[in-house]
Order: sequence, then C-alpha cells, then structure tokens
Amino acid sequence: MIEGCRKISFRGHKDFRGNLVFVEGGSDIPFNISRVYYIYDVPYGASRAGHAHKELDSILIPLSGAFDVILDNGDVRERIEMRSPNEGLFIPRMIWRELENFTSGAVCLALASDPYDEEDYFREYQDFLNASGK
Ligand code: TYD
Repeated sequence: MIEGCRKISFRGHKDFRGNLVFVEGGSDIPFNISRVYYIYDVPYGASRAGHAHKELDSILIPLSGAFDVILDNGDVRERIEMRSPNEGLFIPRMIWRELENFTSGAVCLALASDPYDEEDYFREYQDFLNASGK
C-alpha cells in the first residue's frame, strides 16, 4: 500500500447475538480523534472526496456495505477495497483520496484528527501535486 497508509484491524466480540467492534482512542487510532462524520445514501455511480489534506489525518471505516478508496501520493495511484466493518483505512495528510463504488446502503464512517477547516483542503489535484513537489 502507498507509504504511510495502512489498514487497521479493530478488536471485537462475536457471539450468537451478532458482532460488536470497538475502537479506542489512544490505542487503536494513531491520532487524537477531534471529529467524526459519516457518509451514507450515496447514489449509484457517485464518487466522494477528491481531495487531500494539508495537516489532517483520518481513518475511514465501512460500517455497512462496501466502497473503494483510490489513494494517490502524486507518484502512485492505487485502489483499496473496503469491505470489512472491523477494518479501517488510515490515510495521513498529503494523500489524495477518492471514494467510489459505494454499494447500496453503504455507510462510511470517518474519524478525523482535526475539526473541519476548509483551509486544510487541497480540492484541486494540481494544487496537491504542486504542494507535494511532484
Ligand atoms: P465534502 O468535503 O465535499 O465531502 P467529501 O469528503 O465527500 O468530499 O463536504 C461536503 C460539504 O460538507 C462541504 O461544504 C463541507 C461540509 N463539511 C462540513 O461542514 N463539516 C465536515 O466535517 C465535513 C466533512 C464537510
């Protein structure tokens, strides 16, 4: 996987009543969680994100359903399939990401290291490349 990005497996408990997964700040997450948001009801064929962050680190978790994350560091582009609700994808700052192929009913939970700040975004791919020195 692109350097700096990785999947994180969460601990959980499974029994005849179903599955429970727990995510603890300080141990499971490599940053302090400042914000949680979630994306759902994504129409068929729609894509989300299409941006990079200057300082923010994040983790995406497919709570329900599945989607793909395109990761791009300016040199390499790769597709990561998110299918397991007990796995998150850690995406550090300065990685371009796009989300697509959402299945019907999919829910993407995002954990973020910082509050929302539009100033922290690269929304234009070329701006991201320039800032990356690529
Ligand atoms: P946007 O960044 O376009 O979502 P995506 O991650 O799919 O690209 O966010 C859509 C709008 O929601 C945009 O106007 C910014 C706003 N927003 C907030 O106000 N707070 C947040 O925490 C987030 C993630 C977005």
